[in-house]
Amino acid sequence: EGNVVETDVLIVGSGPAGSSAALFLSSLGVPNIMITKYRWTANTPRAHITNQRTMEIFRDLGIEEQVLADATPHHMIGDTVFCTSLAGEEIGRILTWGNHPTRHAEYELASPSLNCDIPQTLLEPILVRNATMRGTQAQFSTEYLSHSQDKDGVSVRVLNRLTGHEYTIRTKYLIGADGARSKVAADIGLPLEGQMDIAGSMNITFKADLAQLVGHRPSVLYWVIQPGSNIGGIGAGLVRMVRPWNEWLVVWGFDITQGTPEVSDEDALEIVRNLIGVPDLDAEITGISLWGNNEQYATSLQSGRVFCAGDAVHKHPPSNGLGSNTSIQDSYNLAWKLAAVLNGQAKASLLDTYTSERAGVAKQIVTRANQSGREFVKLFEALGLTEAVTEAQMHAAIESRKENSPAGVAKRAAVREAMEIKNYEFNAHGVELGQHYRSGAVVTESSEGERPAAARDPELYYEPSTYPGVRLPHAWVGDWQRKLSTHDLAVYGKFTLFTGIAGEEWANAARKVSGQLGIDVETVVIGPGREVTDLYFDWERLRGVDEDGAVLVRPDKHVGWRAQRLPDDPEGVLRDAVSHILGRG
Ligand code: FDA
Repeated sequence: EGNVVETDVLIVGSGPAGSSAALFLSSLGVPNIMITKYRWTANTPRAHITNQRTMEIFRDLGIEEQVLADATPHHMIGDTVFCTSLAGEEIGRILTWGNHPTRHAEYELASPSLNCDIPQTLLEPILVRNATMRGTQAQFSTEYLSHSQDKDGVSVRVLNRLTGHEYTIRTKYLIGADGARSKVAADIGLPLEGQMDIAGSMNITFKADLAQLVGHRPSVLYWVIQPGSNIGGIGAGLVRMVRPWNEWLVVWGFDITQGTPEVSDEDALEIVRNLIGVPDLDAEITGISLWGNNEQYATSLQSGRVFCAGDAVHKHPPSNGLGSNTSIQDSYNLAWKLAAVLNGQAKASLLDTYTSERAGVAKQIVTRANQSGREFVKLFEALGLTEAVTEAQMHAAIESRKENSPAGVAKRAAVREAMEIKNYEFNAHGVELGQHYRSGAVVTESSEGERPAAARDPELYYEPSTYPGVRLPHAWVGDWQRKLSTHDLAVYGKFTLFTGIAGEEWANAARKVSGQLGIDVETVVIGPGREVTDLYFDWERLRGVDEDGAVLVRPDKHVGWRAQRLPDDPEGVLRDAVSHILGRG
């Protein structure tokens, strides 16, 4: 009992949620320890699609280039194929992750960063490395056992699995980033909606050179419709690129009501050969793992000094590629709030806004991912596969789409419509960038009125705005030497006030408020002859306020408040807004 280790924040788990929390806290100067049960980080590729919001966060933390160096780039991930096997017939393609030329423009306009594909096995080491370099104490082979909290802190019992030694870490706050079977979430009794293990999937990793089959239609995802591909799983059989084009992962479903199957290397090789469509394919099976498909989210993400992030609070299939992304974004939301409270800049009530802002996102993404998986049924229906029982019937149903007959015409139209729906899984730009927080850490003036309804489908399309609570819109600004994103100007850990030349007086107000409240509120004046100018006149179109108005951006790049124009007392209104956000108002 004698040796108690002390820290400000203890993080359980080194997955995307935990290792990113460690990176954020260390970058903000908050002492933290990250413990994780195993010897090292994820041992299978798992999550991989890394969306623009996450890439912006990496950019903010100065690690975007490290991630890109290990990633498969945007332009190589999007020629998504639906087929009977990789060497077999194509049913259709869809350009995904913003790779359709018309969608690509929207992705380019929305963010300084494009999405990419990086397997979790490569991403986690980058996050862990940067976190530890910046101050995190990382303890591998260390298991969380239990905790008890009081009004000053949390005492956590942990086990060093190498030595068998149990000890206590005394921490001011505890983050449970311990995955879908989170013990921390169970110990604080987080309320959960939905179910776990509603369908079964197996991941088979293998090595095989498939360049000949895929090089001319580069994608991360090749969907395979074959006998058995509508049983369990994530909607259809999947061949997923891990590294182009010689490392792969197959996702294949199984009927979870029949228990957990035994899958031998021979079974795995047969599944792989069937999906590739090459009966004697030379493939090396490198791993087999089984997992359950879940549809569950927490409605509260915290209790007292204990917070949960990532899969601990949202459990769902990989459809839409939201798992790791959302986990990292949870921690990004939480970290600056913990730092502000620990530094005495904010009241503890700021921490309550973690649930107010992120619980809705948890529900949204769990629902979206599961719906996307289920929507595969429409393609099976369109092809006439839902009634097919034998392999011969299935084959005949797929063949009949070639018929020169009214039925053939109808089938071709139905297939096209079913493919169209997959945009909600693969081009859901609005889901990825359109998160709108409503909480005590967002100040909406009564003069704002309701946010105008979205002009287009809010799941498919991102609509830039500075309405309080949404993510700061991106615009390129700069001068004759530099081109910067508005995101680059809002430096991590600080509040930033964006205004124009007519609003220059805000800078004075921000300086005074910073001094009074003991925080950093930087001012960025965008205009000719100032720090940066509105190179393409995009910011003027996006800023949503008059030139003398102001947009206040929180450390997580969400708009905390805005003023339409310069008031008589800018210092007073700014102080009120910042105080309110920090729970001091
Ligand atoms: P994550 O599960 O990654 O990490 C949990 C961490 O907690 C681990 O470091 C673990 O060691 C640690 N831990 C657990 N209990 C502990 C304890 N008691 N003490 C100490 N440490 C403890 N997503 C996707 O988008 N595409 C995909 O293809 C896949 N595929 C996939 C396959 C498989 C097999 C799995 C398990 C998951 C996926 N996912 C996925 C989901 C994706 O991996 C997931 O959303 C993220 O990893 C979630 O990140 P977290 O950090 O929340 O948990």
